[in-house]
Amino acid sequence: MNQLVEVLKFYKEIGAGFIETRTPDPLGDIEEINRLIMTCTRCSLHKTKKNYVPGEGRMRPDILFVGEGPGETEDNFGKPFIGNAGQLLDRVIERMGYRREDIYIANIVKCRPPGNREPSRDEADACLPYLIRQIEILKPKVIVCLGRSAMNFLLNSEYSIMEKRGQLFDFKGIPLIPTFHPSYILHQKTKEATSKAKWEMWEDMQKVLQLIGKN
Ligand code: URA
Repeated sequence: MNQLVEVLKFYKEIGAGFIETRTPDPLGDIEEINRLIMTCTRCSLHKTKKNYVPGEGRMRPDILFVGEGPGETEDNFGKPFIGNAGQLLDRVIERMGYRREDIYIANIVKCRPPGNREPSRDEADACLPYLIRQIEILKPKVIVCLGRSAMNFLLNSEYSIMEKRGQLFDFKGIPLIPTFHPSYILHQKTKEATSKAKWEMWEDMQKVLQLIGKN
């Protein structure tokens, strides 16, 4: 119960949880939330990270991509998806007709989990209010969750990505589509498996474009 009260207090402090509460200066808001992230000590990941990775992109993007958490390269530079997985994501974004700066990219946790392990439930719970607030401020047209853990942490579910990829969910009134994490594609062992996974991700992205009205 005490923990719940603490969590609710934190949501209130950062203004998250009330999607209809808008301020007239959304850019100011996103900078403010990203500044809060840069001093966060809500879980122990801040002790081992090199840099906070709040996320980046534009306001009111057509698409918000959500990954699991920063990897080594992202941790070194403080930017999301700039390693190998990021380069593949860049190609997907380009093929969808966007540039990286046209959309927004963020993660469930803003600090790198040591050794790139999956964030724990507690770490994700500690960090999620930031992402929720980012979503409220950014107002993306569509949210794309990259991989199982981003999908399950955001939807508070235990789904399989194989079953749910490409399906339409609702996150606080915003359409959400889960797809494969780019690392999953990069880790396929055969050319055939790689092509299949890429094609399936592309199918999912076409659904995203349809939702936006660009397909
Ligand atoms: N993988 C993620 O989930 N996020 C990043 O920012 C980079 C790699």
